[in-house]
Amino acid sequence: MASPQRKILVTSALPYANGSIHLGHMLEHIQTDIWARFQNLRGNQCIAVCADDTHGTPVMLKAQKMGITPEEMIANVSQEHQADFADFLVNYDNYHSTHSEENRKWSAEIYNRLNQSGFIKTRVIEQLFDPEKEMFLPDRFVKGTCPKCKAEDQNGDNCEVCSATYSPTDLINPKSVVSGATPVMKDSEHYFFDLPQFETVLKEWTTSGALQTEIANKLNEWFESGLQQWDISRDAPYFGFEIPGTDGKKFFYVWLDAPIGYMGSFDNLCQKRDDLNFDEFWAKDSTTELYHFIGKDIVYFHSLFWPAMLHGAELRKPTNVFTHGYVTVNGAKMSKSRGTFIKARTYLDHLHPEYLRYYYAAKLNDRIDDIDLNLEDFAQRVNSDMVGKLVNIASRTAGFIAKRFDGKLAGGIDNPELLAEFQNAQTTIAEMFEGREYGKAIREVMALADKANAYIADKAPWAMAKQEGLEKQTHEVCSMGIHLFKILMTYLKPVLPEMAANVEAFLNAELRWDNINTTLTGHEINKFKALIQRIEPAKIEAMMDATKADLEAEAALNAAAEPKANAADDSDNDELEKEPLADTINFDDFMKVDLRVARIAKAEHVEKAKKLIRLQLDLGGGVTKQVFAGIKSAYTPEELEGRLTVMVANLAPREMKFGTSEGMVVAAGPGKDEIYILSPDSGAKPGMRIS
Ligand code: MSP
Ligand code: ZN
Repeated sequence: MASPQRKILVTSALPYANGSIHLGHMLEHIQTDIWARFQNLRGNQCIAVCADDTHGTPVMLKAQKMGITPEEMIANVSQEHQADFADFLVNYDNYHSTHSEENRKWSAEIYNRLNQSGFIKTRVIEQLFDPEKEMFLPDRFVKGTCPKCKAEDQNGDNCEVCSATYSPTDLINPKSVVSGATPVMKDSEHYFFDLPQFETVLKEWTTSGALQTEIANKLNEWFESGLQQWDISRDAPYFGFEIPGTDGKKFFYVWLDAPIGYMGSFDNLCQKRDDLNFDEFWAKDSTTELYHFIGKDIVYFHSLFWPAMLHGAELRKPTNVFTHGYVTVNGAKMSKSRGTFIKARTYLDHLHPEYLRYYYAAKLNDRIDDIDLNLEDFAQRVNSDMVGKLVNIASRTAGFIAKRFDGKLAGGIDNPELLAEFQNAQTTIAEMFEGREYGKAIREVMALADKANAYIADKAPWAMAKQEGLEKQTHEVCSMGIHLFKILMTYLKPVLPEMAANVEAFLNAELRWDNINTTLTGHEINKFKALIQRIEPAKIEAMMDATKADLEAEAALNAAAEPKANAADDSDNDELEKEPLADTINFDDFMKVDLRVARIAKAEHVEKAKKLIRLQLDLGGGVTKQVFAGIKSAYTPEELEGRLTVMVANLAPREMKFGTSEGMVVAAGPGKDEIYILSPDSGAKPGMRIS
């Protein structure tokens, strides 16, 4: 009854080679891996490939900073990335590099085909140029003062303080991040991919596949605002591939050859495997399926540029693009300052990969909503589902089989209806995995696990075993537990491959989708060994501590290496001599102090107090705090009212002669008229946490 085997190629977005894999990346790779494993388990042929995305200015500059060649750097990073994925049980058929011969060949080939068909245009543009480094500067390598709100040290394309977007040439007092020099404007000829010529094709493509609704909507917006030509060239020096026929002067922009890296990796795999044919998967008339798993930030590249490039070069287009949202940690964007930028390796140093695979699966769906990794919920969910529900089914029944029944399962089935219910769930569960509704599949499996546990609790084999004459029934009940467990583990095999392999060893049988209906009656099984431990909260804490330590070390390194654009001259400063730096504290100690931006809503003299001013501090959301600050010698109430400052918001309240002080404003200086209260840059809002 097997339906004809589908041939499928899937990819995850190619991680940049200038940084480590973190738990945000892992969502994507785990999602891809589960889908590929599911397809193969169902008897389809699903190949999964990935690679490192190695080209571009950041890689070039980082290697320079490290004093090694880009080639050396990307080789090291590739090893690191591949070890991370392997240890998370993510199984790529091939993990390659965009800095490869295959990719060079295909990039040139696709470019030449596009050029011959009239899809490449050239035009001179003006750009910021670093006269010291003698290189053109990408937007984020220019910093300066925001033209709108005047906040200092803002990026070349947008302001983090007021969210304005602009072009780097609009910045006030722009500086090159690379050298600190003031950039100059310089002309350069650039090559453009003529995207507007593909509007009709793209519209057809977007309506033919089952695109996610959010993506279809986005595409429509882009169509409405009009497609633009895409700048695909960069001037030397650039770490990348030369554009054919430009004499080493022009290079492909990293995003031109990055998606071609999918083809390059597959081509490389074809050279290693006789059973794969490149053209079968990439030729224009290919009947195989091609899916790219990507994050929501790179939709434009994958649903406009990429299909258009493929079409223009007479190649097949992706069957679909599967977009997911972003991982947040404890409800907020992963952030270095919050210490939630958790690297894959840091996680692996403390926790089992299948915990995270399970948790992500339980939260994944076919939409592009962000997915929260709430660390408390994570531990709770894994412990209750994986240990408390799933493994419990086997651990409560396996012992009896070994001790009392020679390790053999019973010949009869105690509850055929229950067994049938478990078997029949396969259709729904398969549809859920196929549709990337992993969360629904997990809920379905866990509902069945609840039923299995209720069945065992109800029959209570441990009580039965003590009664005479109930031997056969005890045997059948315990065997039922094992049969049900086998089915559930088959459903979870794509999510928990290592545990599934251990269960296969225990059951002495392979977990296959096509033997879900085959019951192991009379079958001999092996001794049951613990399959998974509970998550100990201490392990999670240790991971978070390691993350913070790691980020502090990194920040210290960067601070030492980066040129300062507008640092004041502090050479004759002796403040540190007056008050030497305090003992080191760890990040947790620091985070105990809850510093907040506050607006001084009201400031008034306090009768009979020589030093104090009474402040009403507004923290937003209707919350105000009263603080008595000893700043009268340096400030008048009038100059304080209305301004923003920084307060310690979780200081224990203190009863004073004049009333309760509910915190402290922070200030520098020795006292008297030398007191300087702090204020945040403009744009900060009352209540914002300072970290
Ligand atoms: N190199 C490009 C992709 C080229 S594909 C031809 C790139 N690299 S990346 O390392 O920045 O991101 C790789 C993938 O990880 C992207 O799909 C991105 O959306 C995803 N994620 C990065 N951070 C993420 C989260 N915090 N959460 C979920 N996915 C995230 O973009
Ligand atoms: Zn601004």
